[in-house]
Amino acid sequence: MSSLALTNIATLVTNSPELGDGLLGLSRNQTLVIDDGFIRSLESKPPEGVDAIIDCSEKTVIPGFVDSHTHLIFAGDRSEEFAARSRGQKYTAGGIRTTVAATRAASDGQLRTNAQKLLDEALSYGTTTVEIKSGYGLSLHDEIRSLEIARNFTDEVTLLAAHVFPEEFIDNPDDYVQLITDSIIPASSAKWIDVFCDSGAFSSEQTLRILQAGIAAGMLPRIHANQLSRTNSVEIALELNAASADHLSACTDADIEALASSQTVATLLPGAEFSTQHEGKLGRRFLDAGAHVAIASDCNPGSSFTTSMPFCISAAVSLMGFSVDEALYAATAGGAKALRRNDIGALHIGSRADFAILNSPSHIHLAYRPGINLVESTFKAGRKVSRWQK
Ligand code: NIG
Ligand code: FE
Repeated sequence: MSSLALTNIATLVTNSPELGDGLLGLSRNQTLVIDDGFIRSLESKPPEGVDAIIDCSEKTVIPGFVDSHTHLIFAGDRSEEFAARSRGQKYTAGGIRTTVAATRAASDGQLRTNAQKLLDEALSYGTTTVEIKSGYGLSLHDEIRSLEIARNFTDEVTLLAAHVFPEEFIDNPDDYVQLITDSIIPASSAKWIDVFCDSGAFSSEQTLRILQAGIAAGMLPRIHANQLSRTNSVEIALELNAASADHLSACTDADIEALASSQTVATLLPGAEFSTQHEGKLGRRFLDAGAHVAIASDCNPGSSFTTSMPFCISAAVSLMGFSVDEALYAATAGGAKALRRNDIGALHIGSRADFAILNSPSHIHLAYRPGINLVESTFKAGRKVSRWQK
């Protein structure tokens, strides 16, 4: 049993209304006590007899970021595609196949090393929980090995065999759908199943078939919805009670209202909006409708090559119409809800002591100082960690 006290915290974000003010449950100059990896109490003075004390004067303590949407198992780089976009070319789903070729050619060790490097980055920016999707293998062998590699890093693993149609199935797409439902799903042991339902990817009918097969095999559904064009994907998400519908850039007002009246989280991806130069205050539309909103990095080599959740918060505030408090809540408690987790994403009494200490007097600096890493240290289950581990 080990205990730790964070004393004199200039700003503590609890996401817990009973511990502080406003949406973020903010408290000032208090001491947070951690016992054996969990939050024990919030006190006005440091208690006697704790094993370690960290003085957090002029610092901010926030729940660790819950990055509920990433594609971290891949090889290669698409910087040329990004440069072409900077010259006016549009983002399309087709670029995914470039990464599929590089991923298939990579060894397990290369894929593992790349994911570790990206997760070390994420940790240094305050991420403590991450979801990881497959989706750059697109064969039985390469999807299953992607899931196995992902499982070394997190329990929040998602099968995204339905990312795009692989080259060898372009002329008979239904055969690939059948490979997914009859071979890949039965061989998978992921928690989640996801489909990219969009133009250049999977149709509504194919999406429904694949998600239903995943559910029948014991996986829980989530969906890439309305990123590039409007489809029936929100309707499908609600019909299947998906934990989350993600991207949502091309939603109608009716889609947003439907999501707002459900428990499905609207996961918005500021890095993708930024990198594909999408305009408009997308976040405000969901927040004003009263939807449950999460922010995630969508880290992938095509549409959003960032692991930094503070960057996503900055982009959400400056481009997508979030207030700073709404953005931070979405990146922590919102991500936890998108993963159906109630042990993380907040610093309630009894929750897991996953948190980050910021070198700034308030959480506002996360958006106010874009591009600057304010994270001094990141803790998982009460322990300071500097290399990602599950
Ligand atoms: O979430 N939309 C589909 N998948 C990724 C992009 C993948 C890629 O371009 O490699 C996304 O943005
Ligand atoms: Fe994605």
